[in-house]
Amino acid sequence: MKVTIVGAGNVGATCADVIAFKRIASEIVILDIKEGLAEGKALDISQTATTLGFNTKVLGTTNDYSRTADSDVVVVTSGIPRKPGMTREELIGINAGIVKTVCKNILQHSPNTTIVVVSNPMDTMTYLAHKTLGLPKNKIIGMGGALDSSRFKTYLSIALRKPASDIHGMVIGGHGDSTMIPLIRLATYNGMQVSEFLSKDELKKIASDTMVGGATLTKLLGTSAWYAPGASVGYLVDSILNNQKKIIPCSVLLEGEYGQDDICIGVPTVIGKDGVEDILDIQLNSEEQKLFEKSAQAVRNMNNALDS
Ligand code: NAI
Repeated sequence: MKVTIVGAGNVGATCADVIAFKRIASEIVILDIKEGLAEGKALDISQTATTLGFNTKVLGTTNDYSRTADSDVVVVTSGIPRKPGMTREELIGINAGIVKTVCKNILQHSPNTTIVVVSNPMDTMTYLAHKTLGLPKNKIIGMGGALDSSRFKTYLSIALRKPASDIHGMVIGGHGDSTMIPLIRLATYNGMQVSEFLSKDELKKIASDTMVGGATLTKLLGTSAWYAPGASVGYLVDSILNNQKKIIPCSVLLEGEYGQDDICIGVPTVIGKDGVEDILDIQLNSEEQKLFEKSAQAVRNMNNALDS
């Protein structure tokens, strides 16, 4: 199984490393426009194979799309990340141009691939990929909810003082600080609702820490995070390539689901060999549905900026 990662920066290189280390694919191609960067990252990762015990072939290329031919999955991480104080939305101008060009190039060499969009503002970039390529809706997946959910579960685990592996939780809606929706009502620790263990104020703080989880890291690091984003991409790619049918909140094109149409936004999906194999209806209560509608409106406003 072959995976191409476009963008050899922090997120791209980290997800290549995760995919190789976890033996998720047999071949990885990393592509970047910056001369030599992808080759360097690929060589560095390749040199961990004997110590970490994997046989995945990792190659790098400076913008030669012929090397990406026949990829089963292509991950798009090319674009600028935010700096402290910036919102994801402020990246739209530059990243839209990059994502559009990259997607067209990808498809020329891998017409049957599944595309995972990571570049921000991710919901709008996923929508742009749909509009640019016209692929079947199951073939383009935006990654954001997997990351936001892992942050949500981490904050829950810290507050509960329990292992994160025993905690389930999901973040849906747009992948923006003010648009994502941590679903407190459905979060559980070993099958029990977390609200049995934590006060309303504690839960409110966990939700707000989750929503600004990316901004908190951007402030600390001076640029946006990469370990958790890279791992979240690996988790998603694993579910596609190995047909695991994991339930992962992903940004996908809605056609009536959750009362929305012609928009990409985070909802619970089943991810397998065909990409998005199902969109699950988790029956939001009226408060959650209102938040979802507000989130969708914010994503729509961002999508409208694509035309201007
Ligand atoms: P980075 O700056 O470390 O890497 C981006 C790379 O893209 C650079 O190496 C650059 O040379 C390359 N690039 C730019 N234009 C290109 C083109 N036309 N073709 C090929 N490569 C090109 O940035 P980082 O931290 O890796 O973030 C990448 C993107 O992912 C950003 O837009 C960031 O906001 C987003 N992101 C999204 C997350 C999500 O959950 N969806 C999480 C974290 C970051």
